[in-house]
Amino acid sequence: MIDFTDPTFLQDPYPLLNAVREETPIFEQRGDDGIQRWFLTRYDDVFRVLRDRRLGRVPEPIMSRSDVGLPPLRSDWGPYNDVEQWSLLMLEPPEHRRLRQLIFREFTPKRIEGLRPTIVDHADRLLSEASEKRHFDLLADFAQPFSIHVIAELLGAPIEDWSRYLDWSHRIVKMYELDTTDDQAESAVRASDEFASWCQDLIAERRAHPADDLISGLCTVETSDGRLSDSEITSTIVLLLNAGHEATVNSLGNGMVSLLATPGAWDSVRSGRVTSRTAIEEMIRFDPPLQLFERWVLADGVSYAGRDFARGEKIAMLFGSANRDPRHFKDPDQFIVDRGDTTHITFGGGIHTCIGAPLARMELSVALERMTAMMPDLRLAEPPIRHPAFVIHGYESVSLSAQSVVGSP
Ligand code: HEM
Repeated sequence: MIDFTDPTFLQDPYPLLNAVREETPIFEQRGDDGIQRWFLTRYDDVFRVLRDRRLGRVPEPIMSRSDVGLPPLRSDWGPYNDVEQWSLLMLEPPEHRRLRQLIFREFTPKRIEGLRPTIVDHADRLLSEASEKRHFDLLADFAQPFSIHVIAELLGAPIEDWSRYLDWSHRIVKMYELDTTDDQAESAVRASDEFASWCQDLIAERRAHPADDLISGLCTVETSDGRLSDSEITSTIVLLLNAGHEATVNSLGNGMVSLLATPGAWDSVRSGRVTSRTAIEEMIRFDPPLQLFERWVLADGVSYAGRDFARGEKIAMLFGSANRDPRHFKDPDQFIVDRGDTTHITFGGGIHTCIGAPLARMELSVALERMTAMMPDLRLAEPPIRHPAFVIHGYESVSLSAQSVVGSP
């Protein structure tokens, strides 16, 4: 029903997503990976599935891979399977609860608010450098280094390696698409191997010389089940470094394109009529950076969108479609800069709700605040080109120009 590789669809998926959602709340489609999925298109169903404990991100421990028709894990993907094994995203209770509680302590709104001065400094420095160019790329010149510096600082990861995290992460997240090619899979496996051995060295170093940072905390913490294993720590570092920037970078790119393309929206934020905290909620609702998440049905009696599901079936939730559902949002295809509605699906919900949401919101609002202050006449310099991928939804580059630049205080 939807060709997720069609370049026209990828450039702007919303006309087709809207048409399909209005025609049906659910449709069935087999992916290139051979998996049959039931796609949910409407807000209420996606909202409820995210919170339904009868569904899981992975079949285990309730069912096995073979119960749900999955082949055994590919042995030639060993390093990738290893880094995914203890990723929070791939765990269900009780392991999920144990790891999430440890990480959550570092991501409370209070702890994140304390990072504000550092985040402002990074934004100011990078914007000053970017403004020296006639046109700058919002993603490569600002959003990527900005977001990576912030997450690396929070974790205590050596910042001089930032371009390596970026490369590893870009290659690994290709595995989350619906149409990953063999070449992309092979590259993701190699990236996982390199990333994991880099983590091993870092873990050894922090065990020997603990610092006051999240990675040292993970290396030394004593829980009621004992210390975390090296595999658990490695998966957590990889997840936090990847999740900690990919979606934030694309949120800023997608959001700034929407904001600058909407007459009057930029001026409303620049003049202070709309706060950046309010504006970013619409930026992430209107064009979310992660378009699809999946769940396995792990119990009997599950029913959504008028269909009864059998155990072992797979549900795919279309986040961008849910965020444009007129049953929940008024005029959903309008970018309304002061809408300020935080009930969008963008950060998920239920036990896997984004742990980094307070950090992402802080980064996005600081970036917007500093751009409006330092580059008051910022505008799109060229029509931006989309990345040819659906799940991780963003631009290749977003070229901007600013005539006048106000120095940071
Ligand atoms: C605008 C930026 C971001 C968006 C849109 C976003 C979105 C999401 C979503 C939708 C999920 C839930 C996945 C699911 O239900 O299956 C998630 C999980 C997660 N996110 Fe984010 N994220 C963002 C930024 C961040 C940042 C900055 C971090 C920081 C480290 C982060 C860390 C995580 C982690 C660790 C999980 C797994 C939580 C769990 O499984 O319990 N995210 N994110």
